[in-house]
Amino acid sequence: MSPSDVEHFLNLARQAAQRAYCPYSGFRVGCILLSQGGEIFQGCNIESCAYSPSICAERTAAASAIAQGVSAWEAVFVVSPTSVSPCGVCRQFLYEFSPDLDVYLGPLDAASKTFVGPIALAELLPRADALQQSSMGHKR
Ligand code: THU
Repeated sequence: MSPSDVEHFLNLARQAAQRAYCPYSGFRVGCILLSQGGEIFQGCNIESCAYSPSICAERTAAASAIAQGVSAWEAVFVVSPTSVSPCGVCRQFLYEFSPDLDVYLGPLDAASKTFVGPIALAELLPRADALQQSSMGHKR
């Protein structure tokens, strides 16, 4: 993927971040999940006053894609104030469907042309477990 393609998807993620509901953290996150067929799914973080029901932008996008019947993904683009990397829960959630996913991270500020990636999801989740394999070496 070319740097201008990455910038394009990061800009779409910045639009999704505008819809974040984050009154507790004030930390706005946007995400674009790109399917292997070229479809685009948007996500933003959504928080709750009970805190634990809050959901990250990555899982919002993934759940939307799955609900629409698309679970083979090529890349995920995440923007936030600190170019944060997906949390452990999101890494596991994404890995379930697309262990070969490429991860791109960028700042919320579009003026900054910096980004990080591609990072292999498998690199972010060493010795990962999923239905297709078992880290224990057993058949399920
Ligand atoms: N958050 C995300 O949406 N994605 C990440 O990769 C890291 C964190 C959200 C969760 C919470 O709403 C806020 O950012 C602060 O952690």
